[in-house]
Order: sequence, then structure tokens, then C-alpha cells
Amino acid sequence: MKILLTGGAGFIGSHTCVELCQAGHEPVIVDNYVNSCSEAVRRVERIVGHAIPCYEADVRNKEALSRIFDENAFDAVIHFAGLKAVGESVAQPLRYYRNNLDSTLTLMEVMQEHGVRRIVFSSSATVYGNQPVVPYREDMPSLGCTNPYGWTKFMIEKILEGQVNADPSWSVVLLRYFNPIGAHESGLIGEDPSGLPNNLMPYIAKVAVGELDHLNVFGNDYPTKDGTGVRDYIHVVDLAKGHVLACGYAAGRTGCEIINLGTGSGCSVLELVHTFERVNGVRIPCVIAPRRPGDIAVNYADPTRARELLGWTAEKTIEDMCRDTYRFQTRNPKGYRG
Ligand code: NAD
Ligand code: UFG
Repeated sequence: MKILLTGGAGFIGSHTCVELCQAGHEPVIVDNYVNSCSEAVRRVERIVGHAIPCYEADVRNKEALSRIFDENAFDAVIHFAGLKAVGESVAQPLRYYRNNLDSTLTLMEVMQEHGVRRIVFSSSATVYGNQPVVPYREDMPSLGCTNPYGWTKFMIEKILEGQVNADPSWSVVLLRYFNPIGAHESGLIGEDPSGLPNNLMPYIAKVAVGELDHLNVFGNDYPTKDGTGVRDYIHVVDLAKGHVLACGYAAGRTGCEIINLGTGSGCSVLELVHTFERVNGVRIPCVIAPRRPGDIAVNYADPTRARELLGWTAEKTIEDMCRDTYRFQTRNPKGYRG
């Protein structure tokens, strides 16, 4: 299939591009590089051994997007493009709503005008809100989001569901990711946050190479095994493979399906830190800090639906995630811009 990846130069998009090529598909990227750079695409090309068609454009630019659809007969779209920093979304809500919602609306209009009706969307476990029980299952009603970023994901899910209701010939897959970490095992592509990382694994990686002197552990008084927050960390390559299968699934049906992509197991902050130290032979100095506002104690996925509908299960371990992250970090100490 010829598949458009909006935001395909980003962390998850670049890994998905590799897996799509290796499964015999033809990915085409559109990205405005607001949170990535063209070097990521060059690296993907090195891994797969051929050029990847790539357009530099903002997905909100309808004229530019229409031209891309005029030039390519797409079978499906994977919509990764979006701003994703939770804290930034609280400080800049209008920018987040404008970027994430407008890009989706423009994309959907252009798809409709070109008769492309299959879309896989990057949603997030954040749309569940703080559920009283784990694991999180797709049929649990959302308990609301705690920040504008989360609300954009919630609203985009509703926009896509609405389109399927209006036109049942559409095929929509809403993938709710848990916590993607890790990197491609080549060490060529990985997560490259600009500035101070917001998320745990990129922060650990920078402490590991001495760029930051310690990790703040946000709270050790949660009702969890060791008091620190528990999440469902999933290797980005497993996640990417889930997208390949989701595209096949979307091609074989119509309607709207929500699917969790997670491992089904929870890992605490300290467990992740200790595993990282053990497999990489490094020390990660930690300081216990106050809880981060908005954080929840525990979440992890029920991945049954992904197994049943996509035939997908996460294969990589926390050890793999730690090893691959460290490899990318040490080989690219300044990220792609180094
Ligand atoms: P990323 O920032 O690395 O990738 C997003 C890409 O979209 C970037 O390359 C950015 O330049 C591009 N982009 C943003 N707005 C654009 C626009 N208007 N036009 C064109 N390109 C645009 O993020 P990621 O971690 O790869 O995440 C991909 C998607 O998955 C995002 O939608 C994100 O919200 C979602 N998601 C990520 C996580 C996570 O923890 N990484 C968790 C759940 C959901
Ligand atoms: N944490 C620390 N120190 C840090 C960073 C994080 O102790 O410097 C802890 C957090 O308190 C939490 C855990 O590490 O317990 C994971 O935090 P992340 O920021 O890595 O991930 P979150 O689960 O908070 O956020 C992720 C995605 C968001 C998404 C959210 C809800 O990054 O995009 O899940 O699904 F909105």
C-alpha cells in the first residue's frame, strides 16, 4: 500500500516508516519539522536502503496537502502530526488546539476530496483519564482529560468517529498508545527532544551521558509497589509494527475501531531506572521530588483487542528498551543535529 505519514519525520513516524518499508509498503512523509528534522528521514533511508518521498509542508496548509494527494494515489494515511508536550499545552492551549485540530480537519477534508477513506490515528492513553481500575480497556468511558493536549486527542477521536457515522465507507483505527520509548536497534533513529525532556526515558538518557546531573523522581508516595508512578512502557519498534498491522486491518473493513497499543504490564519509575543502570552499566543519580501535578499513580493497557483484531503483541522487553535508548543517546549525543 502507498501510505501517507503525516508527521513521519518524528519519533514514532520515523520508526513506522522503517517497518512499513520492511513489510513491502510505500510510505510517503509530510512534515513541517516543527519538532523534528530532515536528518531523521535521511537516517530512515540509510536503514531501508532506498529513498523515501518526503514533502516539507504544514498539514494545515490545504493547498500544499491537496497537491501531495494529487501527485500520489494513497491507499491510507497514518496521522502522527501533532504537538505533544503536555506542560507546553497547558501554557499554550490555543497553539495546541489550532495545530492539532486544524491539521486533522484539513487532512480529513483533503482525504475526502481525493476519495481516500482509510486513516490510522495516533491517539493516547491520556483520553481514558484517571480510571479507578487497571488495566485500561477500550470500552471504558473516558473520564476526561487533564490538559489541552489530551483534549485534542479526545476531540480528534470524536471528529474521526463522527466522519465514520456520517459516511460508513470510511475505515478509521484509533490507536491509543501507552508510553513509547526505546529506539531502532541500529542506533540511527530514536527520540530527539529539543530542550529539557518532559518524559522519563529521554530524561534518564541525558542523565546517563552526563548532560543532566540527576533525575527528579516525581513522588515516591503513590500506592504502588515502590511508591513511584507505574506506566506501560512500550518499545517504539513494537509500536511501529502495530501500525503496519493496523493499516492492513483498516484496508479489510470499514467503521471505527479503538485499539490500545501497550504491553499489558506496569513498570515503576525506579524499576525503569534500575533496569537502565543494570543493562547499560551506568549510574542514574535520583532525587525524590514532589509529585508532578496531573500525574496519576498507575496505568497500563489491556492489550487483548490488539491481539485479537491485529494479531499484534509487544515482543520487546524493558531491557531492550533501555539498551536501545542508550545506544541511540551515546551514538548521537547531540541528537540529529550533532
Ligand atoms: P514527534 O513530535 O516526534 O512527531 C510528530 C511530528 O509531527 C513531528 O515530526 C512534527 O514536526 C510534526 N508536526 C506537528 N505538527 C505538524 C503540522 N501542523 N504539519 C506537519 N507536521 C507537523 O512525536 P511522536 O512522539 O512521534 O508522536 C507522534 C504522534 O503520537 C503525536 O500525534 C503524538 O501526540 C502521539 N502520541 C505520542 C506519544 C508519545 O509518548 N511519544 C504518546 C501518545 C500519543
Ligand atoms: N517522571 C519522573 N521524572 C521525570 C519525568 C517523569 O519521575 O523527570 C515520572 C512521572 O511522574 C510518571 C512516569 O515518570 O510517573 C512517566 O512519566 P512520562 O512523562 O514519561 O509519561 P506520562 O505517563 O506522564 O505521559 C505519557 C505521555 C503523554 C500522555 C500521557 C498520558 O508522554 O503524552 O502519557 O497517557 F499524555
